[in-house]
Amino acid sequence: PRVIFSGIQPTGIPHLGNYFGALANWVKLQRDASPKDELLFSVVGWHALTLPQDPRALLAARTTMMALILAVGIDPKRSTIFHQDQVQNHTELAWILSCLTPIGKLKRMTTWKTRLAVSRNANDESEVDDSLLNTGLFTYPVLQAADILAYGATHVPVGEDQQQHLELTRDIADIFNRTYPKPAPLLTLPQLMLTPSKRILSLKDPSVKMSKSAIDANSRIELTDTATVIRSRIRGATTDSIRGITYDPAARPGTSNLLTILAACTDEDVAVVAARYAGKDHGALKADVADAVEAAFKGPRAEFERLRAETPFLLRVAEEGAARARERSDVMIREVRRRVGLA
Ligand code: TYM
Repeated sequence: PRVIFSGIQPTGIPHLGNYFGALANWVKLQRDASPKDELLFSVVGWHALTLPQDPRALLAARTTMMALILAVGIDPKRSTIFHQDQVQNHTELAWILSCLTPIGKLKRMTTWKTRLAVSRNANDESEVDDSLLNTGLFTYPVLQAADILAYGATHVPVGEDQQQHLELTRDIADIFNRTYPKPAPLLTLPQLMLTPSKRILSLKDPSVKMSKSAIDANSRIELTDTATVIRSRIRGATTDSIRGITYDPAARPGTSNLLTILAACTDEDVAVVAARYAGKDHGALKADVADAVEAAFKGPRAEFERLRAETPFLLRVAEEGAARARERSDVMIREVRRRVGLA
């Protein structure tokens, strides 16, 4: 049986990339899993603290994310949904693992290198404004490794931007197992499960991924956006002036991104979708993408509107999820403590 684990940060409403790159895929995994498979999905509040957060906004965002996970179709009876920050085992394991993780490995993380690059003085490269660089930002991937390893996860479904973090997780598990090999290797090396739509691009600049932090709101569509907003953002998406529609991510990233989105909405192969549009123009493609996104988001949006007011229910789901996650990870933490020499 598989243990499937994934996480999402409670930073605002998830966008189309998070939806197809994560949430919708979690629902599919839940649907297709064998009864013996275990599924765990975590709202990772501690990860969110690596960037400045308004406390009230963060508190609200945690609940919003929980409601959205339910709204897209994750069933709390089948899957364990919980707030990472309500299960202390994650931070305890993260500390133990950080004492085994060479800093060189963390320095090679793309996410860290990107942060470092933006903090460098434009005129003097050797000068770094480290007021923007907290230690949590640096050790973030170790906490992510702890999230995964605490449950003995065998499969981690994520988008492409998380691939390197998963490779590090395997590295860290391997170091732990070699350092504390007896009686048998303890930590499971998890497999990367790249989501079919592993990299949805910005609607405005298709050379970068769609992200929550991009300044231009027109570059993304959020799960709760109205049909009008969806239509206008898709209509305004950057494409190219080549005639006809073809799927060619290198030469036609914007056009190909729209095809990827359409294929994700209709759950088809992107080549099949592309073939259907071969003789059509961007106008026709955009109209159909907008309709398809609206059709995909309509149900979750309505369900979210209903659920967000159900405060006692949301609290209960979070409490029960955390209790299950605690119970589940206690076993692993106890054995980790024993092995490293902490009773
Ligand atoms: P986060 O919250 O940034 O993103 C959540 C999920 O969405 C995927 N994603 C995308 N997929 C396709 N196209 C995009 N443009 C796009 N943008 C985001 C991400 O790949 C991810 O799967 N560090 C993680 C959270 C985390 C985690 C974990 C994940 C913490 N612990 C343990 C898995 C296992 C993060 O910041 O994801």
